[in-house]
Amino acid sequence: MNLSLDNIIKQAEYAFESAKDSTGLENAKAHFLGKNGVFASLLKGISNVRLEDRRGYGSSINSAKKKVDFLLSRHRERLLNKELELRCSSEEIDVTLPGRGLVSGSVHPIMRSWERIEKIFRSIGFDVIDGPELETDWNNFTALNSPLGHPARSMQDTFYLDLKDKNDLQLLLRTHTSPMQVRYSRTNKPPIKIISPGKTYRVDSDSTHSPMFHQVEGLWIDRNVSFSDLKGVYTSFLKCFFENDDLKIRFRPSFFPFTEPSAEIDMMFTTGSNRGKWLEISGSGQVHPNVIRNFGLNPEDYMGFAFGSGLERLTMLRYGINDLRCFYENDLRFLRQIR
Ligand code: PHE
Repeated sequence: MNLSLDNIIKQAEYAFESAKDSTGLENAKAHFLGKNGVFASLLKGISNVRLEDRRGYGSSINSAKKKVDFLLSRHRERLLNKELELRCSSEEIDVTLPGRGLVSGSVHPIMRSWERIEKIFRSIGFDVIDGPELETDWNNFTALNSPLGHPARSMQDTFYLDLKDKNDLQLLLRTHTSPMQVRYSRTNKPPIKIISPGKTYRVDSDSTHSPMFHQVEGLWIDRNVSFSDLKGVYTSFLKCFFENDDLKIRFRPSFFPFTEPSAEIDMMFTTGSNRGKWLEISGSGQVHPNVIRNFGLNPEDYMGFAFGSGLERLTMLRYGINDLRCFYENDLRFLRQIR
């Protein structure tokens, strides 16, 4: 009996030694120690052993099994080391190679305009304020002199939410940055001199319109801010923004419910490939007395101007881009050209 156990141990050792890799080793293990392996069948045979010999039989099998287990773990380690060595030599790293370098990202063209605009207006005393894209119907339309059912609302069809705010006001994605006029003026005292850049939304999509786009709102309210102040401020802004003193600028009569009089601001380059064409750049006007009232101010005491300009439009003109969708396609070949 002991003789044959010794033999089994030798056989196992030989099998483990000959295993070339861990798969081979695990197969050999199954042969000896597995559920239907050599030791399992030896233990099954215990029922044929005389009762008084069973204890001795069992314990000698177990101690032989322990030896085989031990051999197995030694060979596992051997193979693991061998595999590691193999990997190390085949995956050798040349630490003397130069690095690949990191590609540095850049600011998105729209953000570049945004930052430039903030800088220019700050330099002439405007504060920059930020506001929510989820707006109440009241701030977006009603307070701006477009009550429910007003035809001007359909000029700016938008995305309504199935939600109301805490005062039970209908919520929507703001269609312009003009609600920031209301938010700011109801909580701050004149003089009010702010710009508010941000995202806006409309049901609109083609090469010059995107359902999400950017505007910058401007508002200056004080005792005596007139249309000529609007002309002065906006003209010098455009000259700064385009770094071009030879721009032509015109104020074309227009209509907005929240300004009176209202004007579309057009500009024209007099040099470069885009020269000679009038381009619409912004809505503007003197804030309507009803809106001043909704600010909580008396229109007999306060007046001023507002404008709302498209950041995409300004950016397209500055860099000569003709399709607005380029801004949102994340094509690095496009983005890399504007750094
Ligand atoms: N909010 C207007 C628009 O989006 C632009 C505008 C702003 C016009 C302020 C006048 C005054 O079309």
